[in-house]
This record gives sequence, C-alpha cells and structure tokens, in this order.
Amino acid sequence: MQIPGQVIHQLSSARRVAAMTGAGVSAESGIPTFRDAQTGLWSKFRAEDLATPEAFQRDPETVWTWYRHRAEQAATVEPNPGHFALAQLEQRVEHFTLITQNVDGLHRRAGSQRVLELHGDISRAICHITRRPVTEKYLVETAGSPPPSPHHPAGLCRPDVVWFGEMLPDGVLDQAFEASQQCDVFLSIGTSSVVEPAASLAVAAHRAGAFLIEINPGETPLSSLADAVLAGPSGTVLPRLLQAMDD
Ligand code: OAD
Repeated sequence: MQIPGQVIHQLSSARRVAAMTGAGVSAESGIPTFRDAQTGLWSKFRAEDLATPEAFQRDPETVWTWYRHRAEQAATVEPNPGHFALAQLEQRVEHFTLITQNVDGLHRRAGSQRVLELHGDISRAICHITRRPVTEKYLVETAGSPPPSPHHPAGLCRPDVVWFGEMLPDGVLDQAFEASQQCDVFLSIGTSSVVEPAASLAVAAHRAGAFLIEINPGETPLSSLADAVLAGPSGTVLPRLLQAMDD
C-alpha cells in the first residue's frame, strides 16, 4: 500500500498526535475482536450475559471464568508490529497520547509509555463493592467462583474493566478528550467506532481541526469523516507509515 504524501507530511510536521486504538490492533496478536462477523466475541457470546454489572450480579462464576480465560490468553500472546510501531511513533512526536479501548496490556508490553486505558486492564481485579484494587495473590483461581474480596465481607473480586452501563475510570476520559481536542493529527486504528464515549474522541478531534487518519481494513461510521483512510491491517500499515516517514 502506498501511503499518501499528505499523511506523511501531516504526521511528520505534527507537534501533538493522539492515537485511539481498538480491538483490531490486537487481532494480529491472536486476540479476537468483538464485532467482526464469525470471529468477533459478540458474534459468539451475548454482551449482556458477560460484560454488564447485572450479569456479574446474576452469575459471577460465568463472568469471572470468561474474563480469567481472556486474561490468560492476553498474557500468553505477544504484541505485534502495529503495537511496536505505535511505541516508536511516541518517541518521534513531541506530545503523543495513546488512547486505547483495549484491556489486554499489549501497548505497554510493546513499550508505549503514555497510555490512557479507557476500559481498564483485564489482568487486574478490584473489589466489586468498594472498587479497591485486589493484589495478584487473589487471582490464582483461574475459573469457577470469583475469590472473596479482601476489602469487604460481602465483596467479590471482579475484573478491573469497564462494563456496558458503567462510568469510565476517573479522569481518564477528561485526559483523552483534552489530548484529542489539542492534537494536530488524530489516528483512529482498529476500532469499529461505535462504542461511546470512545467513538466521540475522533469526532471531537476533527471538530477542533485535527487531521483525521483512519487505519482499518473495513469501513466504519468514521470513514466518511476521515481526511485519510489507510485500508489495511494495522500490523502492516503502521510499520509502513513509520518507514514512509523515514524515506
Ligand atoms: P470491534 O470488534 O467493535 O471493532 C474492531 C475493528 O477492528 C473493526 O472495525 C475491524 O474492521 C477492525 N480490524 C479487524 N482486524 C484488524 C486489523 N488487523 N487491523 C486493524 N483493524 C482491524 O472492537 P472495538 O472497536 O475495540 O468494550 O470495540 C469497542 C469496545 O466494544 C471494546 O472496548 C469493548 C467492546 O464491547 C467493552 O467491553 C466495554
């Protein structure tokens, strides 16, 4: 794929860049996305049964087991060239903010420093009543009932992720909006751009005058708004983009 000259120029001259990533960035590491037909998690499972506070109240065992399984999977896969390219891009740009909807920790493992995790981190757990962090030793159980919380007699451990209907972690969304509204270039990578409030960040960046680049093999509601669409897998497109900046 040829990277348009305008994209290279915009990125090379930008002082502030914000990048938003979604499940597509981790697809080439072997982690399934949510909404892709056939392979997406939400084509096999119902989000209401697994990713809501009500589901956890109803059936904590099923929810805990599903998240522990995904946490184990995330721990065993490796970051891919797309993750590494974003970590390198951070080193080249004066002010770079990586905003991710992913909970798999792969951006940090690839070396990204400033990462705003909008939806939490699947490797961590919190008390479901107090929301205080729970240390690793409580998480040895990989399946079955969630361990009791050390912080509340009636509490259970739950994954430290944001479920549908829940608020995003304190302050993180504000920081993400600030970075989006101040950036010169906004990259939207591997996300279907349908889950709010994450999807609004690209729109806010566009309204504030940022050059909007989408990287995704498929079309999304954002595609028509983007100044440039690089249609392809991020594990290929992002390294090419960096290479093109060097050429
Ligand atoms: P989705 O599964 O909704 O979208 C994944 C996007 O990645 C799609 O647009 C694909 O076309 C694209 N894609 C697939 N393979 C790709 C590749 N190799 N390179 C680049 N893009 C690729 O995932 P998200 O948009 O991340 O939230 O979903 C947002 C939120 O919905 C998730 O954080 C999760 C989910 O339900 C919660 O659980 C709260």
